[in-house]
Amino acid sequence: MNCRNVIIFILCEICLSIAHVSDPTLVTLPEGQIKGQELLSPKGIVYYGFQQIPYAAPPVGELRFKPPKKHQKWTGVLDTTKNTKICYKINSYEIANTTQTEDCLYLNVFTPLKPGDSSKTPLGVIVWIHGGGFEDGSGVVQEYKPQFYVEHNIVVVTMNYRLSVLGFLTTGDGVIPANLGMKDQHFALKWVKKNIHLFGGDPEKITISGESSGAAAVGLHLISPKNRGLFRAAILQSGTAIARWTRQDYARFYAFELGRSLDPNFDSFEPEELLKLLQNTPASKLINNSVTTAPGKQTSLIEGEGEIWLPVIENPHLEGAFLTTSFYKPFTTGHINQVPILIGFNSEEYLLGALEPNAPENRAKYFDKDLSSLIGNKYNMTKENKVTAGRKLRQIYTDRTFQEDIPAVIKFTSDEVFTTPTIRHAKLQSSYTDVYLYQFSYKGKMGGLNGMQVAGVTGVGHAEELGYLWDAPLSSDGSPDDPQDLVTRQRLLTLWTNFVKYLNPTPKRDSLLNNVVWEKLTRNNLVYLDINKTLEMKRNPKEYLKWEKVLDTYAIPPLSNY
Ligand SMILES: *[C@@H]1O[C@H](CO)[C@@H](O)[C@H](O)[C@H]1NC(C)=O
Ligand SMILES: *[C@@H]1O[C@H](CO)[C@@H](O)[C@H](O)[C@H]1NC(C)=O
Ligand SMILES: *[C@@H]1O[C@H](CO)[C@@H](O)[C@H](O)[C@H]1NC(C)=O
Ligand SMILES: *[C@@H]1O[C@H](CO)[C@@H](O)[C@H](O)[C@H]1NC(C)=O
Repeated sequence: MNCRNVIIFILCEICLSIAHVSDPTLVTLPEGQIKGQELLSPKGIVYYGFQQIPYAAPPVGELRFKPPKKHQKWTGVLDTTKNTKICYKINSYEIANTTQTEDCLYLNVFTPLKPGDSSKTPLGVIVWIHGGGFEDGSGVVQEYKPQFYVEHNIVVVTMNYRLSVLGFLTTGDGVIPANLGMKDQHFALKWVKKNIHLFGGDPEKITISGESSGAAAVGLHLISPKNRGLFRAAILQSGTAIARWTRQDYARFYAFELGRSLDPNFDSFEPEELLKLLQNTPASKLINNSVTTAPGKQTSLIEGEGEIWLPVIENPHLEGAFLTTSFYKPFTTGHINQVPILIGFNSEEYLLGALEPNAPENRAKYFDKDLSSLIGNKYNMTKENKVTAGRKLRQIYTDRTFQEDIPAVIKFTSDEVFTTPTIRHAKLQSSYTDVYLYQFSYKGKMGGLNGMQVAGVTGVGHAEELGYLWDAPLSSDGSPDDPQDLVTRQRLLTLWTNFVKYLNPTPKRDSLLNNVVWEKLTRNNLVYLDINKTLEMKRNPKEYLKWEKVLDTYAIPPLSNY
């Protein structure tokens, strides 16, 4: 190179590095550059979006059924302005403009701060783990558009993770390792810790959050020691790790069941043989399988119902084991990542499920026939005690049978599936960390279930709060927003983002929040914030104390769920 070329070369380098600083949509990650876009929130706030950033290598080919691995470096600039890829999921609903693919380990970052502008104080960060029973959903903007959160001046991260068979099938012996979907999430959390400063996020102010199975996943992150230091707070909406539906105890059995359902001639019990079969089957066929729950092995109270591909307890001696203890016990002993939590439930969770034709009636019939079926197989109880305990649980809701009182079976199911385990989690963890418990009982149009009433039961169903927190299809039918709905949206977002920023949802009196002070719960004082048309502190939510009296009398410890 002659002198002139050297000067031009240096000048160009300078130009390039200036371009880096001045273009806030261009971010340089350790693996390569990404180009996002400038966006405008409904209130007119400028923010920056980076969509479909790879956080792990595509788990395809030999990497199918393997833990997430580092993504290779890339050259050039990756376009991160669209969400087009989601993980294979059960097909209960379509997500616009996306394709289901195994190459799905992507996350999104949205920030109100100019990336690269180091003159501003870094912001709190919320990481969202979507729900969908570990078999459905995605983190794409078509489902979870973050602009309301961004308007409250925090950084938002959403992600995809492997679902169903591809995320949760395991042989339990390390040949097909367990909890791959959880390990994907963990990998994403490590990515956030390492890289979020590049987007104006504060790596010391990360809150993980989720709803339904996403909240159960958050609960599982609380107990895995591998997550130590990766976040400083957690939000759990309508889900917890200690619910019975978060855990599969017969994973190896179901793994081989899948093999046999795919190939009737498959009669091996060798995990390597199974892996070979499963790696040579199209992913869509793996997801759309015909394996159903077997008697005695169900995760639902109802025989034959319930999900199969779920987190499991791993053998601690296996490499990369992520969840190696009971999902319940750590909350009793404090062997958890001791961070403050905001946790709660909606006032009538099962309203969503009860919309399915005949669902409540079928449940009523099933439970009335054998009262031990109200207890399920995850409690250690004699058959006789199960009948007694089941009768006492039904009596909490009705003096008649469930078939004669359908609203009672809906209320029972709300509490059995969601409310009781959530409150139990809150109570147990309150011995070790700050715990803020809520009930969301405001019924508005944004929830998406307004006007859908079942058998005279009113209340707020599962997932309704999502319509307020996220700008999602759910939250609008196109008509103008109701003013009280808009107030409720501002309230939820203010409480949630105060918690992200200050670890306290009500750090000061705020008339928007009716000047309420959200008190922490303690073991002997089960206080919660009721979020209705007004905000009010109340005590002893739902029927929790009655449930506790029954379960703690008849279930033989050690408990494995609640
Ligand atoms: C899907 O893409 C079309 C065409 O780009 C766009 O008009 C539409 O809004 C997109 N839908 C969603 C839900 O993003
Ligand atoms: C799923 O499998 C069923 C029968 O096994 C078949 O009829 C259906 O078309 C499949 N669906 C998809 C999306 O592949
Ligand atoms: C159930 O409790 C009995 C009595 O304490 C005990 O012997 C048994 O091992 C327990 N079973 C399980 C599966 O924990
Ligand atoms: C919420 O408020 C409405 C009236 O505004 C009331 O009908 C409903 O019962 C309240 N919900 C709860 C759980 O108290």
